[in-house]
Amino acid sequence: MSLVTLKEVMEPKDEAFAVGAFSTYDLSSALGIVEGAEAVNLPVIAMMGAPVLNVPGNEKVAETLISLAKMSSVPVVVHLDHAKDFATCMKAIKLGFSSVMIDGSTLSLEENIAVTNKVTEAAKAVGVSVEAELGALAGIEDGEEVKAQKMTNPEHMKTFLEATDVDGLAVSIGNAHGLYKGEPNLNFELLEKLNDLSDVPLIMHGGTGLTQEQFAKGIQLGIKKINIGTEIKKTTIETFIETHGKNESAWDMIGIPKACREAISKVVADKLKFYRSGWKELV
Ligand code: 13P
Repeated sequence: MSLVTLKEVMEPKDEAFAVGAFSTYDLSSALGIVEGAEAVNLPVIAMMGAPVLNVPGNEKVAETLISLAKMSSVPVVVHLDHAKDFATCMKAIKLGFSSVMIDGSTLSLEENIAVTNKVTEAAKAVGVSVEAELGALAGIEDGEEVKAQKMTNPEHMKTFLEATDVDGLAVSIGNAHGLYKGEPNLNFELLEKLNDLSDVPLIMHGGTGLTQEQFAKGIQLGIKKINIGTEIKKTTIETFIETHGKNESAWDMIGIPKACREAISKVVADKLKFYRSGWKELV
């Protein structure tokens, strides 16, 4: 179908469903993600993290991802994940991304509002969606570590939303990037409160390791976009090791990447179906 914006795939706000957002790292993950969405005929968000985009030469991977989105039989959002600065957002917009995230969550509320507005003004002028973040997530994302977690403050959220014009807001309710140490513990009371106060769709980062019940409850309480990164990396590397291990002397550069791509595609297809409607069976 086409390259679409984040705003489009998350509408309407009052309908309970979520769209899966998956991290791309290379061409194989880009293909696996788009093919997974095509297999179940559902929209998908293909993300590229700012540290991945900023690796020299990876603009070509981003351009290929945008071409794959345009050729796809389903709506695909090409989204920049966790940009900390205006320049990286502009780089992505110039390349043709349909959505960017400006992550000012480690800044003061005022500074977060200022940088978000700067990005939003430029993005909206060319029809690109904007995601922001309020409250910080602990954990490692694309090699960058944040140590302290800071839950989203409802009062700050009200101020932030009144002062900005974002299409979606990532919230911190106990979720974390990377693999959870022990059982993840999410504050659904806080999520409900945030969703009642928000007129924009809420977004859940740190999807790897959450249970199906937690996804279901989150979607029921207004989560519209769920980010999955670590599970894409883990699936790829485990499939690589396992497939290579079956016949090490083959150095199988046809079969191994194909197996990785298929494994990613399956993860994506299963999650997209569950986030769209499968979750309803659990609530
Ligand atoms: P995980 O790596 O924990 O799945 O989180 C991904 C993410 O939130 C990307 O922004």
